[in-house]
Amino acid sequence: MAGTDSGRADAFEVRNAEMTRRMNADPHVRDVTREWVHAVLPYEYHYHFSWLGVPIIQFPSDIAAMQELIWNVKPDLVIETGVARGGSLIFYASMLELLGGEGQVIGVDVDIRSHAREAIEGHPLGRRVVMVQGSSIDEATVAEVARHAGKRQRVLVVLDSSHTSEHVAAELRLYSPFVTQGSYIVVFDTVIDDLPDRFHEGKAWKAGRGPKAAVREFLAANTDFGVDRTYEDKLLVTVSPEGFLKRL
Ligand SMILES: C[S@@+](CC[C@H](N)C(=O)[O-])C[C@H]1O[C@@H](n2cnc3c(N)ncnc32)[C@H](O)[C@@H]1O
Repeated sequence: MAGTDSGRADAFEVRNAEMTRRMNADPHVRDVTREWVHAVLPYEYHYHFSWLGVPIIQFPSDIAAMQELIWNVKPDLVIETGVARGGSLIFYASMLELLGGEGQVIGVDVDIRSHAREAIEGHPLGRRVVMVQGSSIDEATVAEVARHAGKRQRVLVVLDSSHTSEHVAAELRLYSPFVTQGSYIVVFDTVIDDLPDRFHEGKAWKAGRGPKAAVREFLAANTDFGVDRTYEDKLLVTVSPEGFLKRL
């Protein structure tokens, strides 16, 4: 009976929420999670995966969360800063393909390497991807993104380029206006702020002054966005604590 089925679904959700709450309140779980992340990062764990044949620089748990988020929001445009080898663009393109319609992905990178361009353009889903080369915070780059974006119903933005807090702060200012109500701007690598400085040797960012600092400053001045902890609470292993920002 329909009533019984929906009652079961509700009970399932309620139990999931309760277990997630208890899991997060368990200091042992939080300790081993942090320890595990610290143990695998020196082996470049997040470089070891691909999506439909193209290397993607993400934790698999974050890919699973983005799948849920995209299915929930059903964007018709995804804008991502930081292309690298192109796997994340192909991942978003594959989700838009499953959603049907004419959804597109715009990928922005200061240096789109020829192997990445070839992998994306030669991919069966490459027709959904537009690439824009330039620093993500240059006015000309943002204007080009806006030109390609046109008018869309539901726009999701993902920030995954330079992780200095100054750069992310500028990206939040420039790309948040693209985000439609009920959608998100996902800031990757907010975990940088929480990692000890030994993880940042040779990098332009450092503990306490990475993407999370930029997110906190942005939220203090922009009340139309708020942190959605649904994803990080169940993930535990995520590079984006406090990084899933929903437009309210
Ligand atoms: C972490 S990687 C992106 C990973 C990719 N999103 C994925 O999931 O596979 C960061 C990328 O940001 C790019 N980048 C660095 N500074 C940038 C800037 N100022 N503007 C745009 N892209 C930048 C780098 O060239 C690099 O390809």
